[in-house]
Amino acid sequence: MATPRIVLVGPPGSGKSTVAVALGERWQLKVRDTDADVESEAGKPIAEIFVEDGEPVFRALEHDAVARALDEHDGVLALGGGAVLHDDTQAALTAYRERGGVVVFLDVSLAHAAPRVGFNQSRPLLLGNPRAQWQALMEARRPVYERVASVRVVTDGLRPADVAALIEQEL
Ligand code: S3P
Repeated sequence: MATPRIVLVGPPGSGKSTVAVALGERWQLKVRDTDADVESEAGKPIAEIFVEDGEPVFRALEHDAVARALDEHDGVLALGGGAVLHDDTQAALTAYRERGGVVVFLDVSLAHAAPRVGFNQSRPLLLGNPRAQWQALMEARRPVYERVASVRVVTDGLRPADVAALIEQEL
């Protein structure tokens, strides 16, 4: 099998970052995470960007980080859960697939996402009533995740290494 180039999309708690690491280990590929890129570019955690600068500033930083990573990175890339909402990012993912890249939607139920997310301060969009927020967010985004992805894998109850093996089967 030729070395795959993979982008992982999906909601918070679907396991994007841990599955990216598992895929990287499985195929000896470099791993990159756009949440981490945004934090290093801004010099502060995402929660602080939301509080101090607001969501539009975060989304602009995120859009730049995704565009750069899709251009430069040859390996496994985990996107922040809301990155796919940007029209340019959707177009960039279509182009990425046309160049042979694979976009994987990590699907998950609320029951399995909740313990992973922990619903803590690091996810500013989920403060207040986190379960209801997560459900609303997933309902609104599901069609987008399905549209941008070429492969969908349900991660409920699976360890990252098992999800990585499932993704390999789907390629
Ligand atoms: C967000 C998801 C987070 C992070 C930010 C916004 C979202 O990333 O980018 O808090 O809009 O779903 P994870 O999906 O890695 O939690």
